[in-house]
Amino acid sequence: MSCEVIEIMIEIDEKKLIEEAEKARLASYSPYSGFSVGAALLCSDGKIYHGCNIENTSFTPTCCAERVAIFKAVSEGRRDFVAISVVGGHRGKPSNICAPCGVCRQVLAEFCAPNTPVILGSADGQILRTTVGDILPYTFKLREDL
Ligand code: THU
Repeated sequence: MSCEVIEIMIEIDEKKLIEEAEKARLASYSPYSGFSVGAALLCSDGKIYHGCNIENTSFTPTCCAERVAIFKAVSEGRRDFVAISVVGGHRGKPSNICAPCGVCRQVLAEFCAPNTPVILGSADGQILRTTVGDILPYTFKLREDL
C-alpha cells in the first residue's frame, strides 16, 4: 500500500508542528471565504512540508492547506509522513481548532497510515489529538493491495 505502516522513532514536537502550521497559515490566499488555514506535514527525517489554503475566483479550483502540503511533499518524492498539524480560522483572527474537510481526509488516508497523528491546534493553546484512521474510518479502497 502507498501508506505502508512504518515503525518510526521520531519524537513529535506537537507545539513546534503547530507553530509551523501557524507560519504556513500566514501565506493563505483566501480573499473569498476570509478563512485562512495552515498545515505542517512532518516526514520521518524531521523535514516539514507547509501548506496553506489557496482559493480561486471560480471557487472549485480552491485547494485546502492539507492537500497543498501533501501534494508538495508527494511531488518531491516523499511519502514517509509521521504527523500533520492544522490550524485555521477567520483571516486576521487567532486560529481555532480546524478539522480537515472530507476531501482532505481521503487524501490523508491515501498517503498516511491510519495511526498517523493529526494534531489540531488553536491560538489559545488547545490541542485536539486524533489520527488519520479516526477521522476517516471505513476508508474507500479501490484496491486492497495499494
Ligand atoms: N479549508 C482548508 O484549507 N482545509 C480544510 O480542511 C477545510 C477548509 C479552506 C478551504 C477554503 O479556502 C476555506 O478553508 C473555507 O472553506
